[in-house]
Amino acid sequence: MFLDQDIAQVLVSQTQIEKETKRLAAEVSNDYKDKYPIVVGLLKGCIPFMSDLIKHLDFHLEMGFMDVSSYHGGTESTVDVKIEKDLSMPVKDRHILIAEDIVDSGRTLNAVINLLRSRGAKSIEVVTMLDKPEGRKIDYKPKYIGVSIPKVFVVGYGLDYQERYRNVPYVGILKPKVYET
Ligand code: PRP
Repeated sequence: MFLDQDIAQVLVSQTQIEKETKRLAAEVSNDYKDKYPIVVGLLKGCIPFMSDLIKHLDFHLEMGFMDVSSYHGGTESTVDVKIEKDLSMPVKDRHILIAEDIVDSGRTLNAVINLLRSRGAKSIEVVTMLDKPEGRKIDYKPKYIGVSIPKVFVVGYGLDYQERYRNVPYVGILKPKVYET
C-alpha cells in the first residue's frame, strides 16, 4: 500500500497479528465464559485490535470506551493522566477486561486500573497486542500479551506518529526521513 513506503521494517506482520489475536481470544474466552465482562477499549489506539479481538470472543460481553491522555510535567516521573472521555456505564461489581494496543511505561493502565478499582470493579485484567517491557516506569504485567517488542518506536495497528499511521494494518518502524519532514 501507499503507506508502506514510509516503513523501514515490519516488526509484527498481519499474519502474526491474526494468529496472536486468535490465540488471545481463545484464552480470554476460556477465562470469561460466565463472567459477562465489560471489555474496555482505551481510545484511540485500541480500535484495530479491539475490533479484531471481539470477533473471536465467544461469550456475552459489553463494550465500553475511555479516552485518557498523559500530561508530562516538569520531569518524566510526574505524569498526570486526564480522563478525556469516561465510560458510560457503572463498573461496580463488574469484571473488566481492558483492551490495549500497547503497554509501554504502564502509566496509562496504572491510572485507569486505580480509577476502576476505586469505583468497585470486581476484577480488572488487561489484554494487549503489544508489550514493551523495557519501557516500564510502573511495574505491571498484563495477563494477556500478544507480542513483546524491544524498546523501539513503532506505528501501525492503532499506534500513531503525530496521529498518522494508525491505519497501517501491521506494526512497523518508520523510516528516519519521516521524522525529518
Ligand atoms: C498509547 C497507547 C496506550 C498508552 C501506552 O496511547 O494506546 O494507551 O499510550 O503507553 P504507557 O504505557 O506509557 O502509558 P496514547 O496516550 O498515545 O493515546 P492514543 O491511544 O490515542 O494514541
